[in-house]
Amino acid sequence: MNIQIINGPNLNLLGVREKSIYGHTTFETYLENLCQLYPAIEINYFHSNVEGEIINKLHEIGFSCEGIVLNAGAYTHTSIAIADAIAAINTPVVEVHISNVYKREEFRHVSMLAANCKGVIAGFGMDSYRLAIESFLIN
Ligand code: DQA
Repeated sequence: MNIQIINGPNLNLLGVREKSIYGHTTFETYLENLCQLYPAIEINYFHSNVEGEIINKLHEIGFSCEGIVLNAGAYTHTSIAIADAIAAINTPVVEVHISNVYKREEFRHVSMLAANCKGVIAGFGMDSYRLAIESFLIN
């Protein structure tokens, strides 16, 4: 099985950014652990702060890989273009958030993407990514 993780804007600053919300671990460190947990799965990682680059990546891998774990950051709440890209591809996408967006500001309660996704996982810290991978293993 191969799974693509895509992180959107500001998620390159995990471990540095608002640690009380997003924790102290860098994504690179977390990813190493994740890959060790699932040696049989090919896990690829892509990060971009740029909306169009996220869309290009979805187009590139969205007809070949088996699952996409997408944390689109703030684009989750605004991007009809990413929503359309998710609808356009064949690979199922699971939307993830590190924080519980429903406990936070009201603008974070809205997702432009969720309706086009297989499901949404939010609020479990970095473990949200692992839970998204698990969701691809159960069906
Ligand atoms: C986030 C939640 C978003 O509202 C925010 O803009 C982010 C990170 C999360 O993982 O909790 O950048 O997607």
